[in-house]
Amino acid sequence: MSADTTSFNHPSFGRMTPDRVIVFDTTLRDGEQSPGFSMNLAEKLRMAEALANLGVDVIEAGFPVASKGDFESVNEIAKNTKGSVICALARSGGVKDIAAAGEALAPAERKRIHNFISTSPLHMKYKLRMEPETVLELITSGNAAARNLTDDVEWSAEDGSRTEPDFLCRCVEAAIKAGATTINIPDTVGYATPEDMEKIFSMLRQRVPGADQVIFSAHNHNDLGLAVANTLASIRGGARQVECTINGIGERAGNAALEEIVMALRTRHDQYPFTTGIHTEGLLKVSRMLATITSFDVQPNKAIVGRNAFAHESGIHQDGVLKNAATYEIMTPESVGWTRSSLVMGKHSGRAAFRDKLKVLGYEGMDETRLNEAFTRFKDLADRKKVVYDDDIIALVDDEARDHDR
Ligand code: KIV
Ligand code: ZN
Repeated sequence: MSADTTSFNHPSFGRMTPDRVIVFDTTLRDGEQSPGFSMNLAEKLRMAEALANLGVDVIEAGFPVASKGDFESVNEIAKNTKGSVICALARSGGVKDIAAAGEALAPAERKRIHNFISTSPLHMKYKLRMEPETVLELITSGNAAARNLTDDVEWSAEDGSRTEPDFLCRCVEAAIKAGATTINIPDTVGYATPEDMEKIFSMLRQRVPGADQVIFSAHNHNDLGLAVANTLASIRGGARQVECTINGIGERAGNAALEEIVMALRTRHDQYPFTTGIHTEGLLKVSRMLATITSFDVQPNKAIVGRNAFAHESGIHQDGVLKNAATYEIMTPESVGWTRSSLVMGKHSGRAAFRDKLKVLGYEGMDETRLNEAFTRFKDLADRKKVVYDDDIIALVDDEARDHDR
């Protein structure tokens, strides 16, 4: 799994330790491309500041040539957001794209131009209508032009996972020779499996001259629900940058979710001995901020940040969690920003959770007979109602007390 990243001086990060994984967030660029998720300037600035505070290494702020609004957002983020490298997207073949990216990024403390072009047979033939040799020329000219504006240049092989391996090697070699310092191989349409992604990165690192002088980067879409698994496999293959979005938002089924990758690396450090710069306690806050800004809630069962991620309803699980949370929780809720796990009161809840709930609600020390009676009433109610709220429990305990005193 080793990729020696110490052998060169990264223009933005200097000499990196071999266990460091760079987190590149593209919520404001690829994430914003999902239908209904567009954000205004003020919202983007708030998100960018939150991402920088979270410890994101690179913030992809937008695609300046795409519109005046995108140019302005990248430019304002470049002026105002401190602590992260600010990145702008450009097409490798677009002279105007690269100039616009350079101009929008000018005020940034640290800046990256990210240029891309498709390399798969399907994209070259039908989308670009270009011969492979022309694509190679544009890779060289695009990266050289970007390199004239900043030392930190990323190049992406769009639809890289469906690119013919020999041609992909030639493209990556051309990008490195022209000055790219990060090489990103996207699974643009979410078609790859973890085995594919690990193989692609291992192959590039073995075959391409100069591969030890760049950082390889993973950018996985979620069409088959494999984006995070593919990202972990890419790391196994030698990628040391992960491209991702908060809540996994992005084109179609989305991008790999930042919070899931970071917590997988942290929780399974035994298998993935890597570190990121993310302050994980801030994950829930940023997830909620994005949901509020875009008016799209995350699904309740979403890993890490969904409302049910640390909620337990089954009596057996609740009993286990009350005895030792590790029985059913693989990370602490506090480590990602929740105040505590929640025991949801419903028809599956058991006596232990009910007793705990009564304690929390201030009914400590009820005698066993009365507790049993209240528990029977709770179970009857839970059969009729999906979730029993605290107020319902208070009401049924008070009713039981009234009946008992009669
Ligand atoms: O999915 C993709 O290929 C992209 C590139 C522009 C990096 O988003
Ligand atoms: Zn993408």
